[in-house]
Amino acid sequence: MNTPCSLLIATRNEGKLEEFRQLLSDFQLDLHGLADFPDVIAVPETGDTFIENASLKAVGYSKQTGLLTLADDSGLEVHALGGAPGVLSARYAGERSSDAERTAKLLSALLTFPAPRRTARFVSAIAIANGEGHILNISVGKCDGHIDFAPRGSQGFGYDPVFIPIGYDKTFAELKPASKNQVSHRARALLSAREFLRTLTIPSSAR
Ligand code: IMP
Repeated sequence: MNTPCSLLIATRNEGKLEEFRQLLSDFQLDLHGLADFPDVIAVPETGDTFIENASLKAVGYSKQTGLLTLADDSGLEVHALGGAPGVLSARYAGERSSDAERTAKLLSALLTFPAPRRTARFVSAIAIANGEGHILNISVGKCDGHIDFAPRGSQGFGYDPVFIPIGYDKTFAELKPASKNQVSHRARALLSAREFLRTLTIPSSAR
């Protein structure tokens, strides 16, 4: 029998962690979140791009834990706001703001914008580093859509209650997790990351 490979998902965001659990459920992986490592020091997200921040987190947390580490840096880019909140999505309404406060700030920034000018996209960059802090794989996924006028739904996390993916009339927060996972930026970024993880988790005799 094969011992499952340990993989740290470098996040304290329970919503994100749960999505990764579902998206990687077909892999023989022993998944951990940062909550399993209470002494780990937070890696500052000082990069200007999602890829830079995902790489900083993958390297920083793998060096501290010695584990194969997957870090996702993600956010929402709203075209009418020049791409904001972008890499600052988690801090859009201040360092300690809640999802509801960030969403309220976004809706108020878009108050005067009619439906055709509310286009947006979610972006996810995923970096994987080995236990010595060397980046092994980087991938990016995007999901286009638009921002609704009021929050709807209770699934998911973050800006899900106001984001309607293209081709749907429901927000991410109204869709079942399995439906979000078919089209989300994170699922798309994971397509290539999964190919890479497969090479690590399939025993060499079966490749
Ligand atoms: P990160 O931890 O710096 O990557 O923060 C990403 C932030 O972007 C989250 O705190 C959310 O506010 C937002 N975000 C990223 N992905 C999603 C998603 O799938 N749904 C809703 N909000 C998201």
